[in-house]
Amino acid sequence: MKSLLLSRFLLLLPWGLIVILLLDTDSSRAPPARPLQQAAPRRPALPPIYAITPTYSRPVQKAELTRLANTFRQVARLHWVLVEDAARRSELVSRFVARAGLPCTHLHVPTPRRYKRPGLPRATEQRNAGLAWLRQRHQQLPPPQPGVLFFADDDNTYSLELFEEMRTTRKVSVWPVGLVGGRRYERPVVENGKVVGWYTGWRADRPFAIDMAGFAVSLQVILSNPKAVFKRRGSQPGMQESDFLKQITTVEELEPKADNCTKVLVWHTRTEKLCAESLTRRASCPSCHCIGGLAKAHHIAGTIEIHASHLLIHLRNAHTILVSTGVRAHKLFISLKQ
Ligand SMILES: *[C@@H]1O[C@H](CO)[C@@H](O)[C@H](O)[C@H]1NC(C)=O
Repeated sequence: MKSLLLSRFLLLLPWGLIVILLLDTDSSRAPPARPLQQAAPRRPALPPIYAITPTYSRPVQKAELTRLANTFRQVARLHWVLVEDAARRSELVSRFVARAGLPCTHLHVPTPRRYKRPGLPRATEQRNAGLAWLRQRHQQLPPPQPGVLFFADDDNTYSLELFEEMRTTRKVSVWPVGLVGGRRYERPVVENGKVVGWYTGWRADRPFAIDMAGFAVSLQVILSNPKAVFKRRGSQPGMQESDFLKQITTVEELEPKADNCTKVLVWHTRTEKLCAESLTRRASCPSCHCIGGLAKAHHIAGTIEIHASHLLIHLRNAHTILVSTGVRAHKLFISLKQ
């Protein structure tokens, strides 16, 4: 009897071990649990960040949105408001939103034909649709309503640090923007913690000489200025930001972020137009060195670091070998090595 039990036990032992092994590998594969959140005393919730992104159909659209989603997915409490320039929601963006893996609101509004001319500001209607959605969603709720809004165009590259900076916006915060206005960067000039002027390559006489990617506004300010919108009428090209900010704040009130506006945390990385055109025409493009050109620009401004690191975070066990075109390894690449 005893020997029968023993032989059964021995027979079952390897299977038991296999089950234990499987359980073990399963748990090592599972995402890390978050025990700290339960144990720690409840901290006040982070104010949500609303990112309003106007977008339109073009060959690079999905690539741009993918790059943005890879960044936004790593930001806590970010709500993405995607506004298509279209009479209806496109299939591409609908499918994209469904799989984006973060809270998204998908809106659409077509730009009236008369405004679709070169030299006229773009995405005005889409940004306003985003503002209207935000106001409608919150107008019934009692204050205080924490939250921060910013305009996240789909052709920019955003550092994760930028979101930490903008999260504490009380009214309107500002910071530098890289690769804009034909310069390596533009920035608010800050003295004694206050904005006193603008370093910019274009019309420094604008009251707020700042790019769309260079500011954030608290939800409270958006709600208490219900009429503040982007204007078509009377707004000159390139004055959209300034005209909008004039309605809600003053230069003295601006809150400089990014170490008193000394750090570039967002870049205007437009995708090369020529490439997109050659793609749609399916023509070869011998004179176009988009990849090299972009890589060079990024190299200068440190964008490669951002592109690469945001993507790599999603790839476990990925090992990347970055090859610098310079004589020596660039310090950005070195910082990425681990
Ligand atoms: C910004 O400048 C002000 C005044 O010089 C200073 O008090 C403050 O600590 C600075 N902030 C940062 C983040 O460097």
